Amino acid sequence: MSSLLIKNASQLATLSSTIKGARKKEEMSELNVIEDGAIYIVDGRIEAVGLSKELVPKYEAEADEVVDATDCLVTPGLVDAHTHVVFGGSRANEFERRLQGATYMEIMNEGGGIHATTRMTREATEDELFEQTKRRLDSFLTHGVTTVESKSGYGMNWETELKQLRVMQRLQKEHPIDLVPTFMGAHAVPEEYKGKEDEFVEHIINDMLPIVAEEKLAKFNDVFCEKGVFTPEQSERILEAGKEYGLIPKIHADEIEAYGGAELAAKVKAISAEHLLKASDQGIKDMAEAGVIACLLPATALFLREEAAEGRKMIDEGVAVAISTDNNPGSSPTTSMPLVMNLACITMRLTPAEALTAATYNGACAIGMEDEVGSLEVGKKGDIVMWDVATYQELQYLFGVNHVVSVWKEGNQIV
Ligand code: NIG
Ligand code: FE
Repeated sequence: MSSLLIKNASQLATLSSTIKGARKKEEMSELNVIEDGAIYIVDGRIEAVGLSKELVPKYEAEADEVVDATDCLVTPGLVDAHTHVVFGGSRANEFERRLQGATYMEIMNEGGGIHATTRMTREATEDELFEQTKRRLDSFLTHGVTTVESKSGYGMNWETELKQLRVMQRLQKEHPIDLVPTFMGAHAVPEEYKGKEDEFVEHIINDMLPIVAEEKLAKFNDVFCEKGVFTPEQSERILEAGKEYGLIPKIHADEIEAYGGAELAAKVKAISAEHLLKASDQGIKDMAEAGVIACLLPATALFLREEAAEGRKMIDEGVAVAISTDNNPGSSPTTSMPLVMNLACITMRLTPAEALTAATYNGACAIGMEDEVGSLEVGKKGDIVMWDVATYQELQYLFGVNHVVSVWKEGNQIV
């Protein structure tokens, strides 16, 4: 048995609530903050949360370790609900080209972009991919992230998709971060299937999805529904087929152009729709009605030099919003969820409280992990971040800085 008491936090943002499911509208502002708070963890699980003056007399004497969080904010570990963290190589060269005027889609259509990373990922050995991804996950941890969703999709042939999914399985066992796998065979149409897009769709449906499900390699099934990539019809086919196998749909929707992705997310009852930079008013309404979480990626919008998604409007219209890095080599190489929270405030007009909810509890809901992580409540994992700011408002206001002091994963100090 091992126990940890963190005491005297200037603010302990618990994010606890009696509301079930992802938080909407004003629920996103209710952080349930305890001033001068304390939290007690036993064997990796939260045993008690409350005022220091109540928890200290009860637990300090028996605790194996006591941490004084005076003048510090304490929050749940951050949840990054959308990444493509397993990939080979770098695309720094394309970054320079885009700065000189080339667009993301132009580069992809010339065989660069996702295709370039696919070539580099196919060439990498499983051990090389493991090592490169591990380094990125270490960086996530130093930025306060303790749970990460991770997509395949840089294989686009079974051999390499499987290699990516295996790397995720190994990391889930060997790295402290909780990794939640998503199959994204439909990330682009590989060069060898050019002009035979429907054949590739059938290949995913008939040959890949059954094995992903049978071998329990992923929990979610994601599709890049975008003009020039997969049409809404093709996306729907792939997502509905995945549902037959128990894979929950997610959609990269309306990232570059309005294409009916948000509407499709509502139609197939996706757990979340991602990006949504160009989502239509109707699509936003449909998502609110169907209870689809908007997983917004403001670092991607910034890196692509695009207007951010309409996060403020989505919250006001009743859509539950999560935020994520989208970590990938092309459109968002960052591992900084604190930066993503800052950008959510600055570029999408989320309030500091909404941004914290979006990066913790609602992120957990977007990957079906809300019973385990995303808030500091008795019985949940002791995934905790201590920050060198006194309030959650300061965390969002003092932007572009990594304020992490310490990170605990299931009660073990990692940072
Ligand atoms: O979410 N849009 C599609 N997929 C990623 C980018 C992948 C890449 O460029 O390598 C995204 O932005
Ligand atoms: Fe993405």
